[in-house]
Amino acid sequence: MTSSLKEQLPDVYEDIQDTLESAKLILTDAVPNAKTLFHTPVVSLSNGRDISSRVMVLREFDLDKRILRFHTDNRAAKIQVINESNLASVVGYDPDLKVQIKMTGNVDVHIKDKVTEDAWSESTSRSKKCYSVKGGSSLEIQNPADYDIKDFEVEEGYENFAVLIFNFISLEFLYLKSSGHRRALHNWEGKYTATWLVP
Ligand SMILES: Cc1cc2nc3c(=O)[nH]c(=O)nc-3n(C[C@H](O)[C@H](O)[C@H](O)COP(=O)(O)O)c2cc1C
Repeated sequence: MTSSLKEQLPDVYEDIQDTLESAKLILTDAVPNAKTLFHTPVVSLSNGRDISSRVMVLREFDLDKRILRFHTDNRAAKIQVINESNLASVVGYDPDLKVQIKMTGNVDVHIKDKVTEDAWSESTSRSKKCYSVKGGSSLEIQNPADYDIKDFEVEEGYENFAVLIFNFISLEFLYLKSSGHRRALHNWEGKYTATWLVP
């Protein structure tokens, strides 16, 4: 996290809209900034029977469109879960900022379309390399070393590439401060509402 971001955030929250503005600053910073834990939030999915969570790298945040973008392997188990139910929750926390941001919404899977083309073209070779792993994610194997990526053609990974677009419907901002915690819920279901909650 850059010190300038911390300086931009209020020390005390009085106006509820400041919590949304802070969430915007934090999540915008988190896309390029690998030093904040908001760069790697936890994405949870449920097919109605089981819940599964995993850490993923945040690739884009857009408050106007209310989306987060993630990249993954289209052979991953999570794709199957999303195909059963696209309900999702994303949570992140940064101990330095003392802020937790929790969002709920729906995920759309993109494979070989304009969204994946754009995301792939802005990915680094290092990121693209992951998608050249043989067999695909979650396959049960005898020897992990057999699956180290050695000889690969970086562009071939596009075959296995997927983009997840998480459209959030609610965003909850929790600020932990000894003088008084602050918890705000922003909800876009129907008409936008914002309310303070008991922390
Ligand atoms: C720091 C970190 C970053 C990760 N980033 C991603 C990511 O951007 N995309 C992804 O699919 N998996 C990522 N993973 C791996 C996932 O946490 C997970 O293990 C993998 O995607 C398989 O999940 P699934 O079986 O639920 O599909 C990351 C793991 C860590 C520890």
